[in-house]
Amino acid sequence: MTDPRLADLQASLPNLRLLTEPGDLEHYGRDWTRRWTPAPLAIALPSSVEEVQEVMRWANRQGVAVVPSGGRTGLSGGAVAAQGELVLSLQRMNRALAFEAADRTLTVQAGMTLQQAHEAARGHGLIYPVDFAARGSCSIGGNVATNAGGIRVIRYGNTREWIAGLKVVAGNGELLELNRGLIKNSSGYDLRQLMIGSEGTLGIVVEATLKLAEPPPPSQVMLLALPHMDALMQVFAAFRARLSLQAFEFFTALALKHVLAHGAQRALDGDYPYYVVCEFDAADEAARDAALAAFEQAVEQGWVLDGAIAQSEAQAAALWRLREGITESLAPHRPYKNDISVRIGAVPAFLHEMQALLTQAYPQFEVVWFGHIGDGNLHINVLKPQALADAEFIAQCEQVTKLLAATLQRHGGSISAEHGIGLVKRPYLESTRSAAEIALMRGVRQVFDPHGILNPGKLF
Ligand code: FAD
Ligand code: MLT
Ligand code: ZN
Repeated sequence: MTDPRLADLQASLPNLRLLTEPGDLEHYGRDWTRRWTPAPLAIALPSSVEEVQEVMRWANRQGVAVVPSGGRTGLSGGAVAAQGELVLSLQRMNRALAFEAADRTLTVQAGMTLQQAHEAARGHGLIYPVDFAARGSCSIGGNVATNAGGIRVIRYGNTREWIAGLKVVAGNGELLELNRGLIKNSSGYDLRQLMIGSEGTLGIVVEATLKLAEPPPPSQVMLLALPHMDALMQVFAAFRARLSLQAFEFFTALALKHVLAHGAQRALDGDYPYYVVCEFDAADEAARDAALAAFEQAVEQGWVLDGAIAQSEAQAAALWRLREGITESLAPHRPYKNDISVRIGAVPAFLHEMQALLTQAYPQFEVVWFGHIGDGNLHINVLKPQALADAEFIAQCEQVTKLLAATLQRHGGSISAEHGIGLVKRPYLESTRSAAEIALMRGVRQVFDPHGILNPGKLF
Protein backbone atom coordinates (compact mmCIF):
# COMPACT_ATOMS: atom_id res chain seq x y z
CA MET A 1 0.00 0.00 0.00
CA THR A 2 1.92 3.03 -1.27
CA ASP A 3 -0.50 5.91 -0.76
CA PRO A 4 0.75 7.74 2.36
CA ARG A 5 -2.80 8.64 3.36
CA LEU A 6 -3.74 4.97 3.48
CA ALA A 7 -0.53 4.14 5.31
CA ASP A 8 -1.55 6.74 7.93
CA LEU A 9 -5.02 5.15 8.20
CA GLN A 10 -3.60 1.67 8.58
CA ALA A 11 -1.16 2.96 11.20
CA SER A 12 -4.06 4.49 13.20
CA LEU A 13 -6.20 1.35 12.81
CA PRO A 14 -3.98 -1.69 12.26
CA ASN A 15 -6.99 -4.05 12.33
CA LEU A 16 -9.16 -2.09 9.90
CA ARG A 17 -9.98 -4.10 6.77
CA LEU A 18 -8.98 -2.03 3.73
CA LEU A 19 -9.45 -3.07 0.11
CA THR A 20 -7.53 -1.54 -2.80
CA GLU A 21 -7.72 -4.21 -5.53
CA PRO A 22 -9.15 -2.83 -8.83
CA GLY A 23 -12.06 -5.32 -8.74
CA ASP A 24 -13.03 -4.16 -5.24
CA LEU A 25 -12.74 -0.50 -6.15
CA GLU A 26 -15.08 -1.08 -9.05
CA HIS A 27 -17.52 -3.20 -7.05
CA TYR A 28 -17.83 -0.82 -4.10
CA GLY A 29 -17.50 2.41 -6.10
CA ARG A 30 -20.85 2.19 -7.88
CA ASP A 31 -24.52 1.75 -7.11
CA TRP A 32 -27.42 0.54 -9.26
CA THR A 33 -27.24 3.62 -11.50
CA ARG A 34 -24.12 2.32 -13.32
CA ARG A 35 -23.73 5.81 -14.79
CA TRP A 36 -20.39 6.86 -13.30
CA THR A 37 -17.00 5.18 -13.59
CA PRO A 38 -15.98 4.08 -10.10
CA ALA A 39 -12.67 5.50 -8.90
CA PRO A 40 -12.44 5.36 -5.10
CA LEU A 41 -9.16 5.66 -3.21
CA ALA A 42 -9.91 2.52 -1.18
CA ILE A 43 -12.68 0.64 0.62
CA ALA A 44 -12.79 0.59 4.42
CA LEU A 45 -14.82 -2.14 6.08
CA PRO A 46 -14.93 -1.23 9.77
CA SER A 47 -16.25 -3.71 12.29
CA SER A 48 -17.03 -1.34 15.18
CA VAL A 49 -18.35 2.13 15.95
CA GLU A 50 -14.90 3.09 17.25
CA GLU A 51 -13.34 2.17 13.91
CA VAL A 52 -15.91 4.30 12.07
CA GLN A 53 -15.08 7.24 14.37
CA GLU A 54 -11.36 6.82 13.82
CA VAL A 55 -11.84 6.63 10.03
CA MET A 56 -13.72 9.94 10.17
CA ARG A 57 -10.99 11.56 12.29
CA TRP A 58 -8.41 10.36 9.77
CA ALA A 59 -10.53 11.66 6.85
CA ASN A 60 -10.62 15.12 8.45
CA ARG A 61 -6.90 15.04 9.15
CA GLN A 62 -6.03 13.96 5.60
CA GLY A 63 -8.80 15.86 3.82
CA VAL A 64 -10.16 12.69 2.18
CA ALA A 65 -13.85 12.59 1.23
CA VAL A 66 -15.88 9.65 2.57
CA VAL A 67 -18.78 7.93 0.80
CA PRO A 68 -20.99 5.98 3.24
CA SER A 69 -22.01 2.73 1.61
CA GLY A 70 -24.72 0.16 2.36
CA GLY A 71 -26.00 -2.38 -0.17
CA ARG A 72 -25.42 0.01 -3.13
CA THR A 73 -28.90 -0.71 -4.44
CA GLY A 74 -29.49 3.06 -4.51
CA LEU A 75 -30.97 4.50 -7.71
CA SER A 76 -29.75 8.09 -7.39
CA GLY A 77 -25.96 7.74 -7.39
CA GLY A 78 -25.76 8.55 -3.65
CA ALA A 79 -23.22 5.80 -2.92
CA VAL A 80 -21.09 6.41 -6.04
CA ALA A 81 -17.37 7.04 -5.44
CA ALA A 82 -15.87 8.38 -8.66
CA GLN A 83 -13.50 11.08 -7.31
CA GLY A 84 -10.89 9.35 -5.20
CA GLU A 85 -13.08 9.09 -2.08
CA LEU A 86 -12.80 6.50 0.65
CA VAL A 87 -15.82 4.19 0.53
CA LEU A 88 -16.90 3.41 4.08
CA SER A 89 -18.91 0.22 3.84
CA LEU A 90 -21.04 -0.83 6.81
CA GLN A 91 -21.29 -4.34 5.40
CA ARG A 92 -19.49 -6.04 8.30
CA MET A 93 -21.59 -4.26 10.92
CA ASN A 94 -24.73 -6.32 10.36
CA ARG A 95 -25.76 -7.78 13.72
CA ALA A 96 -28.95 -7.45 15.76
CA LEU A 97 -27.97 -5.87 19.09
CA ALA A 98 -31.03 -5.73 21.33
CA PHE A 99 -34.75 -6.46 21.37
CA GLU A 100 -36.86 -4.51 23.87
CA ALA A 101 -40.17 -6.37 24.31
CA ALA A 102 -41.91 -3.61 26.28
CA ASP A 103 -40.89 -0.98 23.73
CA ARG A 104 -41.36 -3.26 20.72
CA THR A 105 -38.06 -2.11 19.29
CA LEU A 106 -35.14 -3.88 17.71
CA THR A 107 -31.71 -2.26 17.68
CA VAL A 108 -29.50 -3.31 14.79
CA GLN A 109 -26.19 -2.36 13.26
CA ALA A 110 -26.64 -0.25 10.14
CA GLY A 111 -25.14 -2.80 7.74
CA MET A 112 -27.89 -5.34 8.40
CA THR A 113 -29.98 -6.01 5.29
CA LEU A 114 -33.66 -5.15 5.27
CA GLN A 115 -34.48 -8.84 4.88
CA GLN A 116 -32.38 -9.77 7.91
CA ALA A 117 -34.29 -7.11 9.86
CA HIS A 118 -37.59 -8.67 8.70
CA GLU A 119 -36.40 -12.08 9.84
CA ALA A 120 -35.16 -10.78 13.19
CA ALA A 121 -38.49 -9.02 13.82
CA ARG A 122 -40.43 -12.16 12.88
CA GLY A 123 -38.32 -14.09 15.37
CA HIS A 124 -39.95 -11.93 18.06
CA GLY A 125 -43.49 -12.43 16.67
CA LEU A 126 -43.55 -8.90 15.20
CA ILE A 127 -42.84 -7.24 11.86
CA TYR A 128 -40.64 -4.44 10.56
CA PRO A 129 -43.04 -3.13 7.93
CA VAL A 130 -40.83 -1.23 5.47
CA ASP A 131 -40.53 -3.50 2.44
CA PHE A 132 -39.50 -3.52 -1.21
CA ALA A 133 -37.82 -5.68 -3.84
CA ALA A 134 -34.21 -4.82 -2.91
CA ARG A 135 -34.79 -6.24 0.59
CA GLY A 136 -32.14 -8.95 0.21
CA SER A 137 -29.32 -6.48 -0.56
CA CYS A 138 -30.19 -3.01 0.74
CA SER A 139 -29.11 -2.06 4.26
CA ILE A 140 -30.93 -0.44 7.15
CA GLY A 141 -28.33 2.38 7.06
CA GLY A 142 -29.09 2.99 3.37
CA ASN A 143 -32.83 2.84 4.05
CA VAL A 144 -32.46 5.47 6.77
CA ALA A 145 -30.21 7.64 4.60
CA THR A 146 -32.74 7.61 1.73
CA ASN A 147 -35.90 7.51 3.87
CA ALA A 148 -36.83 4.48 1.79
CA GLY A 149 -40.49 3.92 0.91
CA GLY A 150 -41.59 0.80 -0.93
CA ILE A 151 -44.74 -1.24 -1.36
CA ARG A 152 -46.35 -0.91 2.09
CA VAL A 153 -46.20 2.88 2.51
CA ILE A 154 -49.93 3.13 1.95
CA ARG A 155 -50.45 1.26 5.24
CA TYR A 156 -47.29 1.95 7.24
CA GLY A 157 -45.56 5.05 5.89
CA ASN A 158 -41.88 5.51 4.98
CA THR A 159 -38.76 4.51 6.92
CA ARG A 160 -39.08 7.80 8.81
CA GLU A 161 -42.08 6.44 10.75
CA TRP A 162 -40.18 3.38 11.98
CA ILE A 163 -37.00 4.75 13.48
CA ALA A 164 -37.10 5.16 17.26
CA GLY A 165 -33.44 6.07 17.63
CA LEU A 166 -30.16 6.35 15.75
CA LYS A 167 -26.49 6.20 16.60
CA VAL A 168 -24.60 8.36 14.16
CA VAL A 169 -20.97 9.29 13.66
CA ALA A 170 -20.97 12.96 12.59
CA GLY A 171 -18.55 14.48 10.08
CA ASN A 172 -15.97 15.25 12.77
CA GLY A 173 -16.01 11.71 14.18
CA GLU A 174 -18.19 12.55 17.18
CA LEU A 175 -20.74 9.89 18.19
CA LEU A 176 -24.33 11.11 18.51
CA GLU A 177 -27.10 9.13 20.17
CA LEU A 178 -30.33 10.48 18.76
CA ASN A 179 -33.66 9.99 20.55
CA ARG A 180 -32.62 6.78 22.36
CA GLY A 181 -35.84 4.90 21.51
CA LEU A 182 -38.14 7.41 23.17
CA ILE A 183 -41.73 7.72 21.96
CA LYS A 184 -42.16 11.11 23.55
CA ASN A 185 -39.31 13.58 23.47
CA SER A 186 -40.11 17.28 23.14
CA SER A 187 -36.66 18.48 24.08
CA GLY A 188 -35.79 20.56 21.03
CA TYR A 189 -34.87 19.75 17.45
CA ASP A 190 -35.32 16.13 16.43
CA LEU A 191 -31.87 15.43 14.96
CA ARG A 192 -32.85 11.81 14.35
CA GLN A 193 -35.43 12.96 11.80
CA LEU A 194 -32.92 15.35 10.26
CA MET A 195 -30.57 12.42 9.74
CA ILE A 196 -33.30 10.34 8.01
CA GLY A 197 -33.15 11.12 4.28
CA SER A 198 -29.84 13.00 4.58
CA GLU A 199 -28.16 10.69 2.01
CA GLY A 200 -24.91 10.26 3.91
CA THR A 201 -24.20 14.00 3.97
CA LEU A 202 -24.64 14.67 7.71
CA GLY A 203 -23.32 11.57 9.40
CA ILE A 204 -22.73 7.86 9.23
CA VAL A 205 -25.57 5.84 10.67
CA VAL A 206 -23.96 3.05 12.68
CA GLU A 207 -26.97 1.72 14.61
CA ALA A 208 -30.73 2.06 14.30
CA THR A 209 -33.47 1.28 16.79
CA LEU A 210 -36.38 0.05 14.68
CA LYS A 211 -39.99 0.20 15.79
CA LEU A 212 -41.79 -3.09 15.26
CA ALA A 213 -45.49 -3.70 14.62
CA GLU A 214 -48.07 -6.44 15.12
CA PRO A 215 -48.21 -8.75 12.10
CA PRO A 216 -51.16 -7.76 9.87
CA PRO A 217 -54.17 -10.07 9.60
CA PRO A 218 -54.15 -12.67 6.79
CA SER A 219 -54.36 -10.95 3.43
CA GLN A 220 -55.30 -11.57 -0.18
CA VAL A 221 -53.50 -10.42 -3.31
CA MET A 222 -55.46 -9.36 -6.39
CA LEU A 223 -54.37 -8.45 -9.90
CA LEU A 224 -56.64 -6.05 -11.79
CA ALA A 225 -56.60 -5.14 -15.48
CA LEU A 226 -57.71 -1.58 -16.28
CA PRO A 227 -58.81 0.02 -19.55
CA HIS A 228 -57.36 3.51 -19.11
CA MET A 229 -55.39 5.71 -16.74
CA ASP A 230 -58.44 7.51 -15.29
CA ALA A 231 -59.66 4.18 -13.93
CA LEU A 232 -56.58 3.93 -11.67
CA MET A 233 -57.66 6.51 -9.16
CA GLN A 234 -61.33 5.53 -9.44
CA VAL A 235 -60.49 1.96 -8.49
CA PHE A 236 -58.16 3.21 -5.77
CA ALA A 237 -60.88 5.37 -4.19
CA ALA A 238 -63.46 2.56 -4.40
CA PHE A 239 -61.14 -0.09 -2.97
CA ARG A 240 -59.82 2.18 -0.23
CA ALA A 241 -63.39 2.94 0.85
CA ARG A 242 -64.35 -0.74 1.14
CA LEU A 243 -61.14 -2.61 1.99
CA SER A 244 -58.27 -2.28 4.38
CA LEU A 245 -55.44 -1.92 1.87
CA GLN A 246 -51.86 -3.00 2.55
CA ALA A 247 -50.58 -2.17 -0.93
CA PHE A 248 -51.88 -0.67 -4.18
CA GLU A 249 -49.30 -0.73 -6.97
CA PHE A 250 -49.67 -0.13 -10.70
CA PHE A 251 -47.81 -0.85 -13.92
CA THR A 252 -48.42 -0.57 -17.64
CA ALA A 253 -48.63 -3.15 -20.43
CA LEU A 254 -45.05 -2.29 -21.40
CA ALA A 255 -43.82 -3.06 -17.88
CA LEU A 256 -45.65 -6.38 -18.05
CA LYS A 257 -44.05 -7.18 -21.39
CA HIS A 258 -40.58 -6.76 -19.89
CA VAL A 259 -41.25 -8.62 -16.66
CA LEU A 260 -42.75 -11.57 -18.58
CA ALA A 261 -39.75 -11.63 -20.89
CA HIS A 262 -37.64 -11.79 -17.72
CA GLY A 263 -39.29 -15.01 -16.52
CA ALA A 264 -42.44 -13.96 -14.62
CA GLN A 265 -45.63 -15.99 -15.19
CA ARG A 266 -48.60 -14.52 -17.06
CA ALA A 267 -51.68 -14.35 -14.75
CA LEU A 268 -54.40 -13.17 -17.16
CA ASP A 269 -55.12 -14.42 -20.66
CA GLY A 270 -55.87 -11.06 -22.26
CA ASP A 271 -53.68 -8.00 -22.80
CA TYR A 272 -54.69 -4.74 -21.18
CA PRO A 273 -53.17 -1.25 -20.99
CA TYR A 274 -52.90 -0.91 -17.18
CA TYR A 275 -52.60 -3.24 -14.21
CA VAL A 276 -52.85 -2.97 -10.43
CA VAL A 277 -51.54 -5.40 -7.84
CA CYS A 278 -53.27 -4.79 -4.54
CA GLU A 279 -53.10 -6.55 -1.20
CA PHE A 280 -55.75 -6.15 1.49
CA ASP A 281 -56.71 -7.61 4.87
CA ALA A 282 -58.87 -10.69 4.38
CA ALA A 283 -59.09 -12.28 7.79
CA ASP A 284 -62.68 -13.51 7.44
CA GLU A 285 -65.51 -14.23 5.04
CA ALA A 286 -66.91 -10.70 5.38
CA ALA A 287 -63.60 -9.11 4.30
CA ARG A 288 -63.28 -11.49 1.36
CA ASP A 289 -66.90 -10.76 0.32
CA ALA A 290 -66.20 -7.04 0.52
CA ALA A 291 -63.23 -7.51 -1.82
CA LEU A 292 -65.34 -9.42 -4.30
CA ALA A 293 -68.07 -6.78 -4.11
CA ALA A 294 -65.50 -4.02 -4.70
CA PHE A 295 -64.17 -5.94 -7.69
CA GLU A 296 -67.67 -6.49 -9.15
CA GLN A 297 -68.58 -2.86 -8.69
CA ALA A 298 -65.38 -1.81 -10.49
CA VAL A 299 -66.21 -4.18 -13.37
CA GLU A 300 -69.78 -2.83 -13.60
CA GLN A 301 -68.45 0.72 -13.72
CA GLY A 302 -66.11 -0.23 -16.56
CA TRP A 303 -63.02 0.61 -14.47
CA VAL A 304 -61.79 -3.00 -14.42
CA LEU A 305 -61.79 -5.40 -17.37
CA ASP A 306 -60.40 -8.55 -15.78
CA GLY A 307 -58.77 -9.75 -12.58
CA ALA A 308 -57.35 -12.64 -10.59
CA ILE A 309 -57.23 -13.38 -6.86
CA ALA A 310 -54.37 -15.48 -5.55
CA GLN A 311 -55.59 -18.74 -4.00
CA SER A 312 -52.29 -19.72 -2.38
CA GLU A 313 -49.07 -18.16 -1.14
CA ALA A 314 -47.34 -19.30 -4.31
CA GLN A 315 -49.95 -17.56 -6.46
CA ALA A 316 -49.69 -14.42 -4.34
CA ALA A 317 -45.91 -14.44 -4.82
CA ALA A 318 -46.39 -14.90 -8.57
CA LEU A 319 -48.72 -11.88 -8.75
CA TRP A 320 -46.29 -9.81 -6.70
CA ARG A 321 -43.46 -10.83 -9.01
CA LEU A 322 -45.27 -9.11 -11.88
CA ARG A 323 -44.79 -5.84 -10.01
CA GLU A 324 -41.61 -6.44 -8.00
CA GLY A 325 -39.67 -7.93 -10.92
CA ILE A 326 -39.99 -4.80 -13.08
CA THR A 327 -36.78 -3.06 -11.94
CA GLU A 328 -34.58 -6.08 -12.64
CA SER A 329 -36.29 -6.73 -15.97
CA LEU A 330 -35.60 -3.18 -17.14
CA ALA A 331 -31.99 -3.03 -15.90
CA PRO A 332 -30.46 -4.49 -19.12
CA HIS A 333 -32.06 -1.56 -21.01
CA ARG A 334 -30.10 0.98 -18.94
CA PRO A 335 -33.22 2.95 -18.03
CA TYR A 336 -33.27 6.65 -17.25
CA LYS A 337 -35.29 6.64 -14.05
CA ASN A 338 -37.74 9.20 -12.76
CA ASP A 339 -39.13 8.80 -9.26
CA ILE A 340 -41.72 11.51 -8.76
CA SER A 341 -44.62 12.25 -6.47
CA VAL A 342 -47.61 14.51 -6.08
CA ARG A 343 -50.38 14.61 -3.49
CA ILE A 344 -52.92 11.83 -4.00
CA GLY A 345 -55.56 14.46 -4.76
CA ALA A 346 -53.38 15.88 -7.52
CA VAL A 347 -52.70 12.51 -9.21
CA PRO A 348 -55.54 12.47 -11.81
CA ALA A 349 -54.76 15.92 -13.24
CA PHE A 350 -51.04 15.29 -13.03
CA LEU A 351 -51.29 11.94 -14.85
CA HIS A 352 -53.05 13.59 -17.78
CA GLU A 353 -50.48 16.33 -18.07
CA MET A 354 -47.61 13.86 -17.76
CA GLN A 355 -49.01 11.53 -20.37
CA ALA A 356 -49.38 14.39 -22.86
CA LEU A 357 -45.89 15.68 -22.05
CA LEU A 358 -44.15 12.32 -22.33
CA THR A 359 -45.97 11.21 -25.49
CA GLN A 360 -44.81 14.40 -27.14
CA ALA A 361 -41.30 14.39 -25.62
CA TYR A 362 -40.36 10.75 -26.11
CA PRO A 363 -41.88 9.59 -29.42
CA GLN A 364 -38.72 7.59 -30.15
CA PHE A 365 -38.25 5.80 -26.78
CA GLU A 366 -40.01 3.07 -24.80
CA VAL A 367 -41.38 4.69 -21.64
CA VAL A 368 -42.37 2.33 -18.83
CA TRP A 369 -44.67 3.53 -16.05
CA PHE A 370 -45.10 1.77 -12.73
CA GLY A 371 -45.07 2.54 -9.05
CA HIS A 372 -46.77 3.24 -5.80
CA ILE A 373 -49.79 5.04 -7.20
CA GLY A 374 -51.62 4.75 -3.87
CA ASP A 375 -48.96 7.08 -2.42
CA GLY A 376 -48.96 9.45 -5.41
CA ASN A 377 -45.51 8.07 -6.41
CA LEU A 378 -44.79 7.21 -10.06
CA HIS A 379 -41.69 5.56 -11.50
CA ILE A 380 -41.26 6.57 -15.12
CA ASN A 381 -38.41 4.68 -16.77
CA VAL A 382 -37.19 5.63 -20.24
CA LEU A 383 -35.39 2.74 -21.95
CA LYS A 384 -32.23 3.36 -23.92
CA PRO A 385 -32.32 2.19 -27.53
CA GLN A 386 -29.33 -0.10 -28.06
CA ALA A 387 -27.89 1.99 -30.88
CA LEU A 388 -27.82 5.22 -28.86
CA ALA A 389 -24.71 6.09 -26.84
CA ASP A 390 -25.21 6.47 -23.05
CA ALA A 391 -24.22 10.14 -22.94
CA GLU A 392 -26.48 11.13 -25.85
CA PHE A 393 -29.40 9.19 -24.36
CA ILE A 394 -28.99 10.81 -20.94
CA ALA A 395 -28.64 14.27 -22.52
CA GLN A 396 -31.93 13.77 -24.38
CA CYS A 397 -33.69 12.53 -21.23
CA GLU A 398 -32.38 15.47 -19.20
CA GLN A 399 -34.10 17.87 -21.61
CA VAL A 400 -37.40 16.17 -20.81
CA THR A 401 -36.67 16.08 -17.08
CA LYS A 402 -36.51 19.88 -17.13
CA LEU A 403 -40.08 19.94 -18.47
CA LEU A 404 -41.10 17.25 -16.01
CA ALA A 405 -39.61 19.23 -13.11
CA ALA A 406 -41.54 22.33 -14.18
CA THR A 407 -44.77 20.32 -14.37
CA LEU A 408 -44.11 18.87 -10.93
CA GLN A 409 -43.44 22.32 -9.54
CA ARG A 410 -46.81 23.53 -10.79
CA HIS A 411 -48.51 20.57 -9.10
CA GLY A 412 -46.56 20.99 -5.85
CA GLY A 413 -44.84 17.62 -6.30
CA SER A 414 -41.36 16.21 -5.70
CA ILE A 415 -38.59 15.24 -8.14
CA SER A 416 -37.57 12.45 -5.76
CA ALA A 417 -40.29 10.55 -3.94
CA GLU A 418 -38.18 7.82 -2.35
CA HIS A 419 -34.83 7.25 -4.10
CA GLY A 420 -33.10 10.46 -3.00
CA ILE A 421 -31.40 13.26 -4.92
CA GLY A 422 -27.83 11.87 -4.92
CA LEU A 423 -26.06 12.81 -8.14
CA VAL A 424 -28.87 11.95 -10.51
CA LYS A 425 -31.47 14.49 -9.45
CA ARG A 426 -29.13 17.19 -8.14
CA PRO A 427 -29.81 19.63 -11.02
CA TYR A 428 -33.52 19.53 -10.23
CA LEU A 429 -33.53 20.03 -6.46
CA GLU A 430 -34.70 23.62 -6.95
CA SER A 431 -37.92 22.40 -8.54
CA THR A 432 -38.96 20.82 -5.25
CA ARG A 433 -37.26 22.91 -2.54
CA SER A 434 -37.21 26.71 -2.32
CA ALA A 435 -34.00 28.75 -2.36
CA ALA A 436 -34.55 29.54 1.34
CA GLU A 437 -34.89 25.84 2.17
CA ILE A 438 -31.75 24.93 0.24
CA ALA A 439 -29.80 27.68 1.99
CA LEU A 440 -30.90 26.25 5.35
CA MET A 441 -29.96 22.73 4.25
CA ARG A 442 -26.50 23.95 3.25
CA GLY A 443 -26.14 25.57 6.65
CA VAL A 444 -27.12 22.36 8.45
CA ARG A 445 -24.62 20.37 6.41
CA GLN A 446 -21.87 22.85 7.28
CA VAL A 447 -22.59 22.39 11.00
CA PHE A 448 -22.57 18.58 10.91
CA ASP A 449 -19.63 18.28 8.54
CA PRO A 450 -17.58 21.51 8.62
CA HIS A 451 -14.79 20.18 6.39
CA GLY A 452 -17.09 18.80 3.70
CA ILE A 453 -15.87 15.24 4.17
CA LEU A 454 -19.19 13.42 3.90
CA ASN A 455 -20.45 12.53 0.43
CA PRO A 456 -19.40 15.80 -1.24
CA GLY A 457 -21.25 16.61 -4.44
CA LYS A 458 -24.29 14.56 -3.46
CA LEU A 459 -27.66 16.24 -2.87
CA PHE A 460 -26.23 19.71 -3.69
P1 FAD B 1 -26.80 2.56 -0.80
O1 FAD B 1 -27.22 2.49 -2.22
O2 FAD B 1 -25.55 1.88 -0.41
O3 FAD B 1 -26.71 4.09 -0.37
C1 FAD B 1 -27.80 4.96 -0.57
C2 FAD B 1 -27.48 6.31 0.09
O4 FAD B 1 -27.39 6.13 1.49
C3 FAD B 1 -26.14 6.88 -0.32
O5 FAD B 1 -26.24 8.28 -0.34
C4 FAD B 1 -25.20 6.44 0.78
O6 FAD B 1 -24.09 7.31 0.92
C5 FAD B 1 -26.11 6.50 1.99
N1 FAD B 1 -25.79 5.53 3.05
C6 FAD B 1 -25.73 4.18 2.95
N2 FAD B 1 -25.47 3.65 4.15
C7 FAD B 1 -25.36 4.67 5.02
C8 FAD B 1 -25.08 4.78 6.41
N3 FAD B 1 -24.89 3.70 7.18
N4 FAD B 1 -25.03 6.01 6.97
C9 FAD B 1 -25.23 7.12 6.22
N5 FAD B 1 -25.49 7.08 4.91
C10 FAD B 1 -25.56 5.88 4.32
N6 FAD B 1 -36.22 2.34 -2.82
C11 FAD B 1 -37.39 2.68 -2.27
O7 FAD B 1 -37.43 3.64 -1.50
N7 FAD B 1 -38.53 2.00 -2.54
C12 FAD B 1 -38.55 0.93 -3.35
O8 FAD B 1 -39.60 0.34 -3.61
C13 FAD B 1 -37.32 0.51 -3.91
N8 FAD B 1 -37.26 -0.60 -4.67
C14 FAD B 1 -36.07 -0.99 -5.20
C15 FAD B 1 -36.03 -2.15 -5.95
C16 FAD B 1 -34.85 -2.58 -6.53
C17 FAD B 1 -34.82 -3.85 -7.31
C18 FAD B 1 -33.67 -1.79 -6.36
C19 FAD B 1 -32.38 -2.23 -6.96
C20 FAD B 1 -33.71 -0.64 -5.61
C21 FAD B 1 -34.91 -0.22 -5.02
N9 FAD B 1 -34.97 0.93 -4.22
C22 FAD B 1 -36.16 1.28 -3.64
C23 FAD B 1 -33.80 1.79 -4.05
C24 FAD B 1 -32.83 1.36 -2.90
O9 FAD B 1 -32.94 -0.01 -2.63
C25 FAD B 1 -33.09 2.18 -1.65
O10 FAD B 1 -32.77 3.52 -1.91
C26 FAD B 1 -32.32 1.69 -0.42
O11 FAD B 1 -32.78 2.40 0.71
C27 FAD B 1 -30.82 1.88 -0.54
O12 FAD B 1 -30.19 1.14 0.47
P2 FAD B 1 -28.67 0.68 0.30
O13 FAD B 1 -28.22 0.06 1.56
O14 FAD B 1 -28.51 -0.13 -0.93
O15 FAD B 1 -27.98 2.10 0.15
C1 MLT C 1 -39.80 0.16 -7.23
O1 MLT C 1 -40.79 0.68 -6.75
O2 MLT C 1 -39.87 -0.91 -7.86
C2 MLT C 1 -38.49 0.78 -6.98
O3 MLT C 1 -38.54 2.03 -6.43
C3 MLT C 1 -37.42 0.55 -7.97
C4 MLT C 1 -37.49 1.35 -9.22
O4 MLT C 1 -37.97 2.48 -9.23
O5 MLT C 1 -37.01 0.82 -10.23
ZN1 ZN D 1 -40.49 2.45 -5.75
